[in-house]
Amino acid sequence: MNRWLDELFELLRFPSISTDSRNKDDVQACAEWLAARMKSAGLESKIHPTPGHPVVIGRNKHEAGRLNVVVYGHYDVQPVDPLELWDTPPFDPVEKDGKIWARGATDNKGQFFAHLCGITETIEESGKLPVNLTMLLEGEEEIGSPSLRPFLEEHREDLACDVIVVSDTGMVAKGVPTLGYGLRGIACCEIAVSGPARDLHSGVYGGAVANPATAVAQLVASLHDGEGRVAVEGFYNDVVPLEDWEREMWGAVPGMTPDDVLGVTGSPSLSGEQGYSSAERLWARPTAEVNGIWGGYQGEGSKTVLPAEAFAKLSFRLVPNQDPAKVMEKVIAHLERHCPPGVKIAVDPGHDGQPYHTDPHSAFSKAAQAALKKTFGADPVLIREGGSIPIIQDFKEVLGADTLLLGLALPDCQIHSPNENFTIENFEGGIRLNRVLFEELAGC
Ligand code: BES
Ligand code: ZN
Repeated sequence: MNRWLDELFELLRFPSISTDSRNKDDVQACAEWLAARMKSAGLESKIHPTPGHPVVIGRNKHEAGRLNVVVYGHYDVQPVDPLELWDTPPFDPVEKDGKIWARGATDNKGQFFAHLCGITETIEESGKLPVNLTMLLEGEEEIGSPSLRPFLEEHREDLACDVIVVSDTGMVAKGVPTLGYGLRGIACCEIAVSGPARDLHSGVYGGAVANPATAVAQLVASLHDGEGRVAVEGFYNDVVPLEDWEREMWGAVPGMTPDDVLGVTGSPSLSGEQGYSSAERLWARPTAEVNGIWGGYQGEGSKTVLPAEAFAKLSFRLVPNQDPAKVMEKVIAHLERHCPPGVKIAVDPGHDGQPYHTDPHSAFSKAAQAALKKTFGADPVLIREGGSIPIIQDFKEVLGADTLLLGLALPDCQIHSPNENFTIENFEGGIRLNRVLFEELAGC
């Protein structure tokens, strides 16, 4: 483990923030480190440049008649702000209280690196893997994987596979192995509301011309009704309802009681669509969220100003069978219709991704459950995920293969937040999981 931990620390030191162009060289350096690391494990590795950040591929020697498995992960990370809330610097990993603390520790470097360590151990001990492996690591997941879909289309034959393995999701509670069989989709946009030609004195003109910040607040408020439902006309048209067996199964999943969710989020109370539990709201119901809202004076004290502009970033989490493009059309129509008089609105659609859903009872899913049980010594729970990994549905469409979501992220791992962490227990579990997973899958 010491060797693997030292290497993981090296990997975590790259500030591979994909969204920030100032980190472009860091992302590239991280890709090069990974290609070298795959090579030292005995895999043939290659860095593929893309219009954005590189894709790194590692392969063992493929033999006819064996199962073809793609292991996917992403080596890019989220930005670190607000930096002052980190207890230790985000790219200077430390081990404390049985956890590794760093940006990317869980999302996703620690999780995919566990697979690479397991693969390395198998090759060192047995000389070879029981399957034909292609490890595919991308550097753009956190910005919506813009280069990967075209890459998949271009390398369709090379990437042909029977099944895909991804550890980039959650474990519902410590020690509870979790197989994900769904992901929410996503559609993002930014709204810009403009009013007067310049910021005005709010006493001299306030009350006589519309205030863009008030308009943004009204637009944001128009997104939900009084029962926590999304009020965009037609938003629920294509939503596939929850199955009774899922509601029953999720009612018994550990880590999802009201107290659990309140504890891990630090929120004063739960909220959301009426008639659904937290698990149901998160895993099977679509939502509208405000990710950012700004405009007007933000400095110390007060400044009596009527801002010329105000903005909000919105995202919508989607479930089967919602289509992100169709949803965005409805959202734009809604925003235009609800925009109050006296201001102008411009909506800029951002990246999106399809929801994903697969059969948790397929032969591959059963093999994954057996591997989880052997590794963690308990029966796995079956969940869908609230988060999104847009490329997973693209894998299905382009490569025709389903993905096994073998989550190792714990509820308090603080992904996308300050003080992200990964337990050494789950890092080690992930390594052992890989050791049994390929054997189980090869037996399908
Ligand atoms: N690893 C997460 C997704 C995730 C986290 C799924 C926890 C399930 C449980 C991934 O890195 C991520 O953050 N995805 C983004 C996608 C978006 C930027 C297109 C997300 O969900 O916001
Ligand atoms: Zn993420």
